[in-house]
Amino acid sequence: MARRSRAANGATSTLTPEPTSATRGRSRAGNGAAPESSAVPGHVRDLNLAREGKLRIEWADRHMPVLRTIRARFAKEQPLKGLRIAACLHVTTETANLARTLQAGGAKVFLCGSNPLSTQDDVAAALVASYGISTYAIKGEDHQTYYSHIVSCIEAEPHVTMDDGCDLVTVLHTKKKEFLREVIAGTEETSTGVTRLRAMAASKVLRYPVIAINDADTKHLFDNRYGTGQSTMDGVLRCTNMLVAGSTVVIAGYGWCGRGLAARAKGMGATVLVTEINPLRALEAQMDGYQVISMSEAAPRGDLFITVTGNKSVLRKEHFLAMKEGAIVANSGHFNVEIDIPALERLSDGKRQVRPFVDEYKLSGGKRIYLLGEGRLINLAAAEGHPAMVMDMSFANQSLSVEYLKKNGRSLAKEVHSVPADIDREVARLKLKSMGIEIDSPTADQDRYMRTWSEGT
Ligand SMILES: NC(=O)c1ccc[n+]([C@@H]2O[C@H](COP(=O)([O-])OP(=O)(O)OC[C@H]3O[C@@H](n4cnc5c(N)ncnc54)[C@H](O)[C@@H]3O)[C@@H](O)[C@H]2O)c1
Repeated sequence: MARRSRAANGATSTLTPEPTSATRGRSRAGNGAAPESSAVPGHVRDLNLAREGKLRIEWADRHMPVLRTIRARFAKEQPLKGLRIAACLHVTTETANLARTLQAGGAKVFLCGSNPLSTQDDVAAALVASYGISTYAIKGEDHQTYYSHIVSCIEAEPHVTMDDGCDLVTVLHTKKKEFLREVIAGTEETSTGVTRLRAMAASKVLRYPVIAINDADTKHLFDNRYGTGQSTMDGVLRCTNMLVAGSTVVIAGYGWCGRGLAARAKGMGATVLVTEINPLRALEAQMDGYQVISMSEAAPRGDLFITVTGNKSVLRKEHFLAMKEGAIVANSGHFNVEIDIPALERLSDGKRQVRPFVDEYKLSGGKRIYLLGEGRLINLAAAEGHPAMVMDMSFANQSLSVEYLKKNGRSLAKEVHSVPADIDREVARLKLKSMGIEIDSPTADQDRYMRTWSEGT
């Protein structure tokens, strides 16, 4: 089946992938498998990677029981029938399973990457070739291609937007306003995106309601903490192969991600120093057993620095100057502005890539500093992002929130909304069930006790 797809340079070409074992003999029974569609528009690196991508998507799906349960119900009930969804997310195996779930519910999904370095090219290929989902994403795409992919999704005239970092929403509200007319509502995956949306709502420019998936307890308590904690260390280890035990790791930001990251680094034997700007979070870090310190004090002590703040220029000129020879700097916050890379470049006489995702900067005087993954979220640039087990809950929230928005989106105010509490609880309930864990229910007497104020000492 010939498919039209644009080549990596933006030119349009006709790709004719042979049917692979991945696409042959597929069930069409509403399980997220592709309709036997003809041309699926998209822009991916190489459709021949589809077989490998499909195997990895299936592996992730084995570890996403909550999403599978939702997908089975969606396939039966078709709650998203007729809905067009423009999704700007990290194109990973887990996102593929989210897209399949939305598709099984009757939606037409248009997917692009939410970061130029986080796309898994085999997954993008499988989404187009094996699942019939329009995908526009190439790992390492340049700035212009990144935004042209967002525009391709917007031009699909979505009813619902699904963003991770608010780039799609920003383009829609600035350069592509004419496509706002069909949009009912949206969802936002991450802390940084929610911050930007709240700023838009406060300035009264947000044109439709958005649900902050990040704020669901079953998202940030697990995805940000356990997902980012583990996968960030995974990214650092894959590209450096460093020994963490005995090293000094400086973590900037003790939010949900920072807490998880600090716990993992400590568990691996590092001395962990934490920097913060929020006194409450700083106090919490100190009482959790870390040393809280200013970045100026930490700079000469750290072997590895990781930023997870959602802020900009957290590591900057004065810190690079104070760092020791061979210091490694990485970021796991949403944007690549947490490390002031232009300042690092200005301080350096030269730069060379010494390993995949490791750039060596030689400062005048000879000191070397190593920047990982071009300062982009290292867990997605150099590793595979969060494990499927944890994305299961985040994407269950996404799926159920889209279902909720289809029913209720038109009556919601044009603000940032929480995930409805019953969705959050249902995701927790389903996750526990999938883990074979039973919890107690209150007795009638306990229930009554919790509702009254008359019983005391
Ligand atoms: N890598 C990933 O896969 C991944 C996953 C989830 C979230 N994120 C991103 O990670 C970032 C952090 O997310 P979070 O959920 O932990 O947010 P959060 O708001 O819970 O925590 C951020 C913390 O950083 C602190 N901070 C801000 N500026 C600082 C500075 N200059 N120095 C030191 N600390 C500072 C804040 O006080 C806050 O405690 C966001 O950009 C988010 O979008 C990345």
